[in-house]
Amino acid sequence: MNISTKLLHPLFVGEVRGIDLRAPVDAAAVAAIVEASNRYAVLVFPEQNIDDAQQLAFSTHLGPLETSIKKLRPGHKLRLDQRVSDISNVNFDGGLQAADDRNRMYGLGDRLWHTDSSFKAVPAKYSLLSARAIPPAGGETQFADLRAAYDALPDGMKRQIEDLVAEHSVLYSRSTIGFTDYSDEERARLPPAPQRLVRLHPGSRRKTLYLASHAGWIRGMPVPEARLLLRDLMEHATQREFVYTHRWKVGDLVMWDDRCTMHRAREFDMAQVRDMHRTTVSDEVSSLEQAA
Ligand SMILES: [Fe+2]
Repeated sequence: MNISTKLLHPLFVGEVRGIDLRAPVDAAAVAAIVEASNRYAVLVFPEQNIDDAQQLAFSTHLGPLETSIKKLRPGHKLRLDQRVSDISNVNFDGGLQAADDRNRMYGLGDRLWHTDSSFKAVPAKYSLLSARAIPPAGGETQFADLRAAYDALPDGMKRQIEDLVAEHSVLYSRSTIGFTDYSDEERARLPPAPQRLVRLHPGSRRKTLYLASHAGWIRGMPVPEARLLLRDLMEHATQREFVYTHRWKVGDLVMWDDRCTMHRAREFDMAQVRDMHRTTVSDEVSSLEQAA
């Protein structure tokens, strides 16, 4: 095995060739990928054409896998294994989702800048997304480098936010685009999760912002002030120099570190199929329990 990496973005995106993720990988290969991920945060693996079983097998090497929160809704039928998030506009029967399909409405929230599962007490560590079908235009995924964004903050702002704790809620982020279709039971099950606003990224020992559209409150701060600060930081972190746009090809697999990046999906023609499958590796502890 001879892994080679090419820069796709000068700050934080590497393209990895020389490894077949469909085949069993050994500990040395996993260590090399983790090391590359610690450096780049976003890794693009072209031409993998992986299936769900192979994607699950590879992802498991990186840590415990999350299960989709959609499975928790009574009566909701999953198209895929519950450890594979269905990021598609396809319904259970294989047709395109109707315009008012609840899953489509929910999925539109992915167009907001976010990091996966920051609304869970123990959030995501890595996400792995593979392209099974893509529309002829649009549907890109954009990534933002939150370590570089942190580095570029003025010292005064770094001091101001150093010890702040934000509360993240998927109900909040969806509500900002008018999606509020949650039962009382779901609301009770998805309380806001506290997360540090500034984290130390364990693999690189670099400080990073930890932001997402899910963040709606900051502990000890009046709500309007907190939301303005969060907006300012999101705006700062998504400036052009910190952003990479991935234009998908069928067969691509992209792996990113959720602890130090944000991402969002871009718009496309909903009459076209976009079928992406995500596996998500859980972090070990809440960001509050990690070293500051
Ligand atoms: Fe996401």
